[in-house]
Amino acid sequence: MVRARIRPSSGVEARARVPGDKSIAHRWLILASTAEGPSRLAGVPPALDLRSTASCLAAVAPAARPGLDRWLAETLSDLEVGGSTWNPSSSPSSGEPDGPVAEVEGEGRSGLRPPAAALDCGNAGTTMRLLAGVLAAAPFRSVLVGDASLSRRPMERVAEPLRAMGASVTTTDGHPPLTIRGGPLRGVRWTLPVPTAQVKGAILLAGVAAQGETIVEEPAPTRDHTERALRALGGPVETGPGTVRVRPFQHPGFAASVPGDLSSAAFLVGAAALLGSRLEVGGVGLNPTRTHLLEVLGRMGVAVRASIERDELGEPVGTLRVDPPAHLDPVEVGPEELPLVIDEVPLLAALAAHADGPSRFAGAGELRLKESDRLEGIAAGLRGLGGRAEAVGDALRVEGGGLRGGRASSLGDHRLAIAFAVAGLAAEGEVEVEGFEASTVSFPGVVAALRGLGAHIEVST
Ligand code: S3P
Repeated sequence: MVRARIRPSSGVEARARVPGDKSIAHRWLILASTAEGPSRLAGVPPALDLRSTASCLAAVAPAARPGLDRWLAETLSDLEVGGSTWNPSSSPSSGEPDGPVAEVEGEGRSGLRPPAAALDCGNAGTTMRLLAGVLAAAPFRSVLVGDASLSRRPMERVAEPLRAMGASVTTTDGHPPLTIRGGPLRGVRWTLPVPTAQVKGAILLAGVAAQGETIVEEPAPTRDHTERALRALGGPVETGPGTVRVRPFQHPGFAASVPGDLSSAAFLVGAAALLGSRLEVGGVGLNPTRTHLLEVLGRMGVAVRASIERDELGEPVGTLRVDPPAHLDPVEVGPEELPLVIDEVPLLAALAAHADGPSRFAGAGELRLKESDRLEGIAAGLRGLGGRAEAVGDALRVEGGGLRGGRASSLGDHRLAIAFAVAGLAAEGEVEVEGFEASTVSFPGVVAALRGLGAHIEVST
């Protein structure tokens, strides 16, 4: 197990960059492997979750396999916690991100072939749910498995709509393993009971392979990366308030550069706010279904300016500029906005622990179904660091006033690992985060990136 030790730090003015966006990269790898023709993807993050998607795709897409295997081999060394080749200060805002490019051949969806073994989705719910949508239309049997955390996560939410479209999908008491016998699909009109972009994405990926129109209705807005990519590739996608419609479509290959991950940048913005650093993060994805975080940070007194500079396959990309706040205000995040900051609650809670009063996150029950029970995990972790926090039902309350220091466990969850390290930057005493290796699930190189902001952080095994 890897431990991260964080000592009270003071900030420096910095420019930084972050690895490519995990959500976008999952979708683009899937689209590249099922495209008709070659694709070239720069900036796919060398993160564990993307390795899961790439290796599952390599097992079902023979044409894509050589390119995916090459990318997997070239990115292996980036996974070492604290010692990666990641250079956080290299040119953030211009040109292509450095790191290996994934060159992927596609023979269309009809080029998919039965896998020789179960597909291991590792820790990644997005891998499992999105692939379920693709495999629902593939005329063979596949079994999707995951690690202990993923094996506890709900899968009926994706199985049900795919069954309604004509696929045979079985779960194991509602959880992975998932067995899919794909085949011809028909379009469906599906109202999501809970807002989830993973399930919406799965239905849309199945929908472009189905006969007739597929309509997804969502009770609250969620990230729209699937819709944007399909539309940018020329797909018949129509979006209206709370509704997405798609019709059958086989997309061509494409070339694009994955924008930096705003959810990873959020940790650096939070670190800068606690360290009193002025920070610029370039090349970041600024999709409006992801930037609500900036509005919530604004309410806490952290002013972040975002300027859009270009577009990558329908995704706006630009620069974030952060001015350090004089102090942090507490915040109330309500159920209607929670889906738009779903992955940033651990970071917002870490900041809230240092705010001038109590903060509350309401309607956050979905956080109990993530890589860990994040509501309970955040509260327990902040208490371990000398703060006061409590998870009750679907809400989280975090008392402000600062942290004394202490020890917190990541519970094997990448966002908790990084959030506690960030929280520790402004604690009175030393902070230890157990299970820091989880950080490589989404943000390999986070140690170097935090050091670039002035953080005193050491990792040991
Ligand atoms: C994701 C959607 C969200 C998010 C996850 C990535 C995606 O999950 O928490 O990290 O890429 O679609 P849900 O859609 O299940 O809320």
